[in-house]
Amino acid sequence: MFFRQLLVEETACASYLVGCKTKGTFAVVDPRVELVDDYLALADGQGARIDAVFETHLQADHVFGLPQLVERTGATAYLPEGSGVEFEHWALADGESVRLGNTEFRALATPGHAPAHHAYLVTDHARSPDPWMVLTGDALLVGDAGRPDLHAHGAHTVEQMARSLYRSITDKLLTLPDDLVLFAAHHSGSVCGRGLSPTPVSTLGYERRNNKALQFGSEEEFASALTADTPPAPPEHAAIVAANRSGRSLALTQALEFYVGKLGIEVNTDADLGFMRWLTVKCPRRSRSSDHRFTSSTRTTRDSSPRAPWASPGSSVDDAHTTYEELLAKGVEFTEEPTERFYGTGCGLRDPFGNHLRIGEPKEGAIEMPDPTQFAAENT
Ligand SMILES: [Fe+2]
Repeated sequence: MFFRQLLVEETACASYLVGCKTKGTFAVVDPRVELVDDYLALADGQGARIDAVFETHLQADHVFGLPQLVERTGATAYLPEGSGVEFEHWALADGESVRLGNTEFRALATPGHAPAHHAYLVTDHARSPDPWMVLTGDALLVGDAGRPDLHAHGAHTVEQMARSLYRSITDKLLTLPDDLVLFAAHHSGSVCGRGLSPTPVSTLGYERRNNKALQFGSEEEFASALTADTPPAPPEHAAIVAANRSGRSLALTQALEFYVGKLGIEVNTDADLGFMRWLTVKCPRRSRSSDHRFTSSTRTTRDSSPRAPWASPGSSVDDAHTTYEELLAKGVEFTEEPTERFYGTGCGLRDPFGNHLRIGEPKEGAIEMPDPTQFAAENT
C-alpha cells in the first residue's frame, strides 16, 4: 500500500494520498484545492491513477479540491451519506467499504463535528486483514476532539453536536484497537480544534491515554468542556461551506450570493468549468431595437469607452452600460483588467470577488473566453 500525508501549514490541514501500488489505483482523502497538481504528480510518479476522492465531511475552513480532482481524473467522489452536496457523488453509508486493489477504505459514521462525518478505516490486504490506520477527519484530532459548533444549526444545536461527537468517539473510534495509526485532518494552528499537537500522527492507544478530550467521565462533562471557549470561526466559513456544497469556487459562490441573492440580478454561470470561469451578468432591460445590436466583440470593444464593460457578442452597448451603471449605483466596485494582450479586446472587468465579468445578454452559442491569467500561464 502507498501512503503519503500532504500538509498545508497555512491552515494546518492534512490530506492523504493512499492506495494500492500493485494495481495502480489510489484515492485522495480530504484534498486541498491548492494541492491538486501535487496529488496528480505523486500518483503519476507511482504509475497509479486516482480513482476515488473521499471527504470526511463538508469542510468549513477551506475550499476542497474534490471537484477539480474528479474533473481531471474521472474519479468517483465519495462523501458521507447526508452531506447535502449538490454535485454527483456516491453517498457512503456507515460501514460501507470501497476497495481499490488491495487497499480497503471502510466508512465509520462519526457525526458531531459535522452532522454527516465519516472516519475511514484503512486496511492493506496485501499485508493483513486487520486495519492498519484510521483517518479520523475532524472527529478525533491529535490532542483534542473536533469543535462541535461550525456546522451546528437548526435541529443540530452546538450541545447536541457535542453529545453526538462524544458517542461517535466512545461508541465507534474507541472500540478500535490501540495499535491503529491515527491520522486526522488537522494539526496545531487549525481553528477546527483547540490545543492540537503540531505532530500530525498518533495512535489510537496513545490518544486514548493522553488526549485531554478523552479523559471526561461522562457525555455531559465532555459536552460542557467542548462547548466552552470555542475559538473564533474561520473567516468566511459559511461561504466556504456553501462553495463546497455546490462544488463551485469560493469567488463564484460569493458572487452568486451577492448578485442573485442580494441584488436579484440574473447570472449565467454555465462557464464555471475549470479555467473558463466567466460570469455573465444578464441585462435586466433588453435592447429596444435590433439596430443597437453589435455583431462582434471587436466592434463592441472598439466602440466602447475605456471604462466600458466588456459586452459580449450579441449584446448591445446600451444594455451593457445600463447594467454596468446600475451595478455601480448599487455599490459594486469593479477592477479593470486589460485583456487585449490575449484576445485583442479592450478591457475586462473583475468583480469584487475576483470573477471575470461579462455584462450583457450572451448570444446563444457564443464562445466563452478563458480566464486570462490562466490562459497566459498556459500559453507563454
Ligand atoms: Fe472540519
